[in-house]
Amino acid sequence: MPNLDRPRILTGDQPTGRLHIGHWVGSLENRIRLQDDHDCYFLIANLHAFTTRAEQPGAIRRDTLDIIKDWLAAGIDPERATLVLQSAIPAIAELTWFLAMLLPVNRVLRNPTLRAELDAKDLGDTHSFGFPLYTVGQCADILAFRAQLVPVGADQAAHVEMCREVARRFDHLYCGVPPTTADADYERAGGVFPIPEAMIGRVSRLVGIDGVRKMSKSMDNAIYLSDTTAQIRDKLARLHTGRQAITDPGDVSNPLFQYVRAFLPDPDRIRSLEDRYARGDSIGDGTIKAEVAAAIDAVVAPMRERRAEYDGPRGDAQILELLAAHSAHANAVANRTVDLARAAMHLELRA
Ligand code: TRP
Repeated sequence: MPNLDRPRILTGDQPTGRLHIGHWVGSLENRIRLQDDHDCYFLIANLHAFTTRAEQPGAIRRDTLDIIKDWLAAGIDPERATLVLQSAIPAIAELTWFLAMLLPVNRVLRNPTLRAELDAKDLGDTHSFGFPLYTVGQCADILAFRAQLVPVGADQAAHVEMCREVARRFDHLYCGVPPTTADADYERAGGVFPIPEAMIGRVSRLVGIDGVRKMSKSMDNAIYLSDTTAQIRDKLARLHTGRQAITDPGDVSNPLFQYVRAFLPDPDRIRSLEDRYARGDSIGDGTIKAEVAAAIDAVVAPMRERRAEYDGPRGDAQILELLAAHSAHANAVANRTVDLARAAMHLELRA
C-alpha cells in the first residue's frame, strides 16, 4: 500500500515503445531508489501520445502495456508505488482546463521543450491544437497528485518550470497565498498546490550507439532494457571511435567514454581507464567495450528475470488488472485535489 505520510513524487513517460538505457540513467534509476522513502506516482501519458498519433489508438495501447512491463521489469514495485494511467483519471483533464486559464498562450508556446519537439518533428504550424496543450496537461499530471518532487531527464525541466509558475499563480489567486511566500511554504500558507521541484537524472543526454545523436527509439540507436547479453555486446562493438591503434592517445570525451562514466560502477576504475586511454597506454577499444557491455548487462540482467513474469499469454491481462486496481487509489487522490481546487475557485454547489 502507498504510504501517504511520505513526500510525494510524480513522474511519467509517454508510451513511445520500449525503454532504453538512456531512460535508466536519465530518470528510471532515481525512481526505483525513491520508492523506498516517498509516496510515488508513476504516470503513463497515453493521452499525450494522441497529440501526434491520434490515428493509431491500437499502437498507443500496445506501447502503453509494453512500457508498464518495462517499468515493472526495471524494479518499479506495484506494492509500494502507484501506477497512474493518465486516461483513467478524469480529474487530470478537469485540472488541465483550470490551469489553461492561468497561463498566457505565448508563455506556453515559448516553452523551449515544446519548441524543440515542434522542430524535431518538423510540425511547424501544422500540429494539432492539442499539441501545445499537452504541456499544460503535464502540469495537471503533477499537480493532481500534489507532487513535491518530479524526477525527470533534463529535457523535461522546462515543463516542470511551467508547472511551478502555474501552481504559484493558482495559490496566489484562489488561496490567498502571499506572492512573497517561499516556494517550500505554499502548502503551509494555505495553497492547494505545493511548488514542485525537478530532480534531474545523473546523465542528462546519453549518446546513442551511432555515436552522434541522443539515444532514442526513433533514431534506431538505442540499447534497450530488454536487450539480450549478445545484443548489448554487438551494439557496443559497432560503436565507432575513430581511433586507429592502441598506442594512439584517445579522446576521453568520445561516446565510448560517455558510456564508461555512465555505467562502470567503480570510480577508481573509470579514472584509471581515462588516464590510460588519454595516454595511449596500450588499451584497446575492444577491451573497454567488453567491460562496458558487462556493466550494462549487470544493470539489465535482473530486469530480464522480472520481465519473464509478464511475458506469458496472460501478461497483458495481468497488467490491465493491476492498472484497474491502481486507478482506484489514483482517482481518490486526484479527485480530492480537484475538490479542493473547485472550492478555491468558488465552484462548489453549496449555498
Ligand atoms: N512529457 C514526458 C516525456 O515525454 C512524460 C510526462 C507526462 C511526464 N506527464 C508527466 C513527466 C508528468 C513528468 C511528470 O517524457
